[in-house]
Amino acid sequence: MLSKQGEQSKNRGSNPFAVILGSSPEIVVACNLAKRASRGDSTVLIIGETGVGKSVFAKAIHQASRRRGGPFVTVNCAAIPETLIESEFFGYVDGAFTGASRKGKPGKFELANGGTVFLDEIGDMSLTLQAKVLRVLQELVVERLGDTHEIPVDVRVIAATNKDLAKLMESGKFREDLYYRLNVISINIPPLRDRREDIPEFIEWFLRSLNKVCNTSVTCVHPAVMEAFMRYPWPGNLRELENAVEHALNLTDGDELRLEHIPPHIWQRAIENADKNDTACAKDLDDSLAKYERDLIIAALKATGNNRSKAARLLNISRSGLYKKLQKYAIPRDGTAKRLTE
Ligand SMILES: Nc1ncnc2c1ncn2[C@@H]1O[C@H](COP(=O)(O)OP(=O)(O)OP(=O)(O)O)[C@@H](O)[C@H]1O
Ligand SMILES: [Mg+2]
Repeated sequence: MLSKQGEQSKNRGSNPFAVILGSSPEIVVACNLAKRASRGDSTVLIIGETGVGKSVFAKAIHQASRRRGGPFVTVNCAAIPETLIESEFFGYVDGAFTGASRKGKPGKFELANGGTVFLDEIGDMSLTLQAKVLRVLQELVVERLGDTHEIPVDVRVIAATNKDLAKLMESGKFREDLYYRLNVISINIPPLRDRREDIPEFIEWFLRSLNKVCNTSVTCVHPAVMEAFMRYPWPGNLRELENAVEHALNLTDGDELRLEHIPPHIWQRAIENADKNDTACAKDLDDSLAKYERDLIIAALKATGNNRSKAARLLNISRSGLYKKLQKYAIPRDGTAKRLTE
């Protein structure tokens, strides 16, 4: 059976940060910063590749803040056409432009009054808009298009980007003043490949939630699948992992995720990586799988702080089964063996 570690260690429901899974030092640091950020109203900049959980963090900060009763309004700066973006941000008054609604319309900042505005993909905003957003941040007022009347807004801004804003700033594509205004608290969420020890917990969580969606009842993961997942570089991060698990669930009949269920490019990549560093027995699949198994045991021991019961649960084998394998592969008691295929 899969471990219940994720659910036991986090009190879901009452704590908005409980939805943020992972126990790697990187994610713990990011979570602690986010918790501190939720105590006040300072602007937060969340930086990370696509699919690392930037939106999840932004929502958790809002939910944990004193603004939780107010709205959380997301604006995706990359998705709105340039011609509409100003009216989306700031709203417009009756007759401001052809096609404008007769009654006028509030912009996102107004809609977020008393709550939080989440400016997603902030690196994609034009320089003109950057100047206008900076004004809102500094003066906390907005002017609707076609109006000169200033409307005060009480908003907290959380911005996110997968771009290197410092680089954009150097090349003149991002305003320096806005950068410093946004960067009061910055939270860096590292890619999944830099915190691989979190992968088993994510797999377990995605299995739990996606079993319901796919009407399946998978409770265990074959060691070779776990190893392939631990080895794959995950350019799409958590979103890609979630989709890979969903893909696999759709192909299963029983209660186990096996290598043949996961998207082929993932296990192919894992085998390629294994072959690269292997001279003696690369061509022998049995040997490769044995190495996968040995490495997986080491990874599980590492992920569980060398706790053998937890490692056995993670690997879906009995404790005595784990002891036999530790002997077979001559893994020392302290679990400090080097992985063979890294
Ligand atoms: N730490 C986490 N714990 C649980 N689920 C997570 C975590 N991080 C990400 N996810 C899940 O991964 C998926 C992608 O997360 P999210 O949309 O927050 O990423 P993002 O960084 O905002 O991506 P993008 O740059 O594409 O907008 C979501 O389904 C989310 O629930
Ligand atoms: Mg997002």
